[in-house]
Amino acid sequence: MKDLTPDRASLEPIEIASRDEIEALQLQRMQWSLRHAYENVAMYKKRFDEKGVHPVDLKSLKDLSKFPFTVKDDLRDNYPFGMFAVPMEKIRKVHASSGTTGKATVVGYSDADCELFANMVARSLRASGIKPGDMVHNAYGYGLFTGGLGAHFGIEKLGATVIPVSGGMTPRQVTLINDFKPDAILVTPSYMLNILDEFHAQGLDPRDCSLQVGVFGAEPWTNAMRQEVEDAFDMHAVDIYGLSEILGPGVANECVETKDGLHIWEDHFYPEIINPETGEPVEDGEEGELVFTTLSKEALPMIRYRTKDLTRLLPGTARSMRRMEKVTGRVDDMIILRGVNVFPTQIEERLLAIEGLAPHFQIELSRDGRMDQMTVLVEATPNAADETSRNIASAALIKSIKDTIGISAKVTVSEPNSVTRSEGKAKRVIDLRQV
Ligand code: DLL
Repeated sequence: MKDLTPDRASLEPIEIASRDEIEALQLQRMQWSLRHAYENVAMYKKRFDEKGVHPVDLKSLKDLSKFPFTVKDDLRDNYPFGMFAVPMEKIRKVHASSGTTGKATVVGYSDADCELFANMVARSLRASGIKPGDMVHNAYGYGLFTGGLGAHFGIEKLGATVIPVSGGMTPRQVTLINDFKPDAILVTPSYMLNILDEFHAQGLDPRDCSLQVGVFGAEPWTNAMRQEVEDAFDMHAVDIYGLSEILGPGVANECVETKDGLHIWEDHFYPEIINPETGEPVEDGEEGELVFTTLSKEALPMIRYRTKDLTRLLPGTARSMRRMEKVTGRVDDMIILRGVNVFPTQIEERLLAIEGLAPHFQIELSRDGRMDQMTVLVEATPNAADETSRNIASAALIKSIKDTIGISAKVTVSEPNSVTRSEGKAKRVIDLRQV
């Protein structure tokens, strides 16, 4: 793999500023953001007043814990535009979540927010090793989802060339990669696996393609998956994180030279980790729920927004800004099986270590009498699709899950190409227990 470490001179000074400098900027911006939210969004005024706090009470960054949390339901309750802090004519674009689990949540951006969005994605892509002049295949979905268009404007801002492919039509994805020879690809990790299969289906060696780096996010993925994709394509795989409520992609990103967790762009997004049960902040280094406060966003200031993502904060390395560890999973994706907490990422790690299993999987939850049952649906690789190999792989996965996670799961190893493929965010868990 080629060394893609960006030139230090190409970084923004704040990325490598001292902690004191970063924290001074954060405090000043946080005071502005709290005031802006309080004065322009009825919900924030009501919540702050109810809690007896006022923006002037924020004298240090630690004082933030006195302020109330914001949650996804607040956006739903104020659907569609009730949490915007600027008049509608200043809103330059909106995005929305798919709304598969209820009413869509709508987010909006002013001109300055659009500029910030593009700059944060450009910074993220630079950290990933992409340079001005590179060609970037963008397979995040275009539309209301923030992934496609968010990445698009960041690629342009960096001065790279964007190929706006969006998700889907997988054979065409491979054709375009072969014909246009992009340097980088932006796509969900699960869809990248789908693209990988298509390379094989077309009889092509993915290691021969032009891609030097993939920037993967929008869903949890593991270091085991990084290894799998890096080996398959002979390219770097780095993690990009974000969420619509805070920005979209570009809230945090790994540096290609270290790949040791995602640097949070702390000059604009202030992170906290809380105990998800008590809501109390925990120390850096401890795992919990990630909470963000936006420091500069105009249209949709977010104060202590509970992301439901589980991770921990770590000190800076390649940049001065703190890192978040790869996300383990979402609080609401946690499976509680007979008293044991399990995340799909743990299953991913296990099955990637087993010879003869393809990286595509789903987890089915069912009820057997009064007992909950978990079945891992996975498929054999084409060279190990015979019954004996499948039985061996299945037994190995059952044992590995039992030994490391401590639960008895069922495993079904099926024919190649039998597990549902993702074209965006993968649906990992099928819960049949309510039916
Ligand atoms: O998924 C924004 C995005 C687009 C990020 C493209 C990266 C690349 P939402 O649809 O609002 O926004 O979903 C946000 O997705 O709270 C996490 O649960 C999950 N997520 C996003 N990035 C990662 C990641 C976009 N790198 C929700 N690792 C977040 C794990 C991620 N989970």
